Amino acid sequence: MPPESRKIIGEGMKILLTALLIVMTGFYGNAQVKNPPGILIAYFSCSGNTRVIARDIQKECGGTMFEIQPVKPYPAEYRAVVEQARQEIEAGYKPELKTKVENFDSYDIIFIGSPNWWGTVPPPVATFLSSYDFKGKTILQFITHGGSSFGRSSEDIRKLCPDSKILKGYSCRGSMVGTAAGEVHKWLTALNLGSGSY
Ligand SMILES: Cc1cc2nc3c(=O)[nH]c(=O)nc-3n(C[C@H](O)[C@H](O)[C@H](O)COP(=O)(O)O)c2cc1C
Repeated sequence: MPPESRKIIGEGMKILLTALLIVMTGFYGNAQVKNPPGILIAYFSCSGNTRVIARDIQKECGGTMFEIQPVKPYPAEYRAVVEQARQEIEAGYKPELKTKVENFDSYDIIFIGSPNWWGTVPPPVATFLSSYDFKGKTILQFITHGGSSFGRSSEDIRKLCPDSKILKGYSCRGSMVGTAAGEVHKWLTALNLGSGSY
């Protein structure tokens, strides 16, 4: 083979090896640096407001959506649900849920979303929080309401999950959920969970 051709092949090999090295370093580098935590977005929503926020959160930081649903749905009529909720909350009733989270252990960060019902979380959310081991998990609460914000719901979550790290939550008036995406972005970015963090 003429020396000129050998030189060209040699140069070609060098370029190929360098490119391979760059690709491999990038690949392993990413695997180490960008190892996203498992995020679960669990929410209960009776009339749809809380679901809107759950979707905003997923757009920001990804994660698995899980809708908390009781086996027996709440009545559609507003006064009927208000009265049933009052009785259930007073009695500390925890209704059976329709579905379970698969591989709960694989989640490190768990969003808990709900409406404010009589100043606290609705009974299906209390069931949810009592059904899994939240020890060592990071919890972020979000709530929609008709004027009384978190009420005593955060303290009630703390009582049900005493061994979890609870970060700053987010509350939104039910009538404002359609325009809350910017606020959700700010909330999550301040906690290093916003889009582009992972
Ligand atoms: C049973 C029941 C009880 C409620 N109690 C309160 C309350 O104590 N304080 C409040 O601000 N809003 C209260 N609300 C209003 C809801 O929190 C609000 O409409 C919420 O956005 C509904 O969320 P959803 O559409 O995800 O179910 C109550 C609503 C219902 C149905």
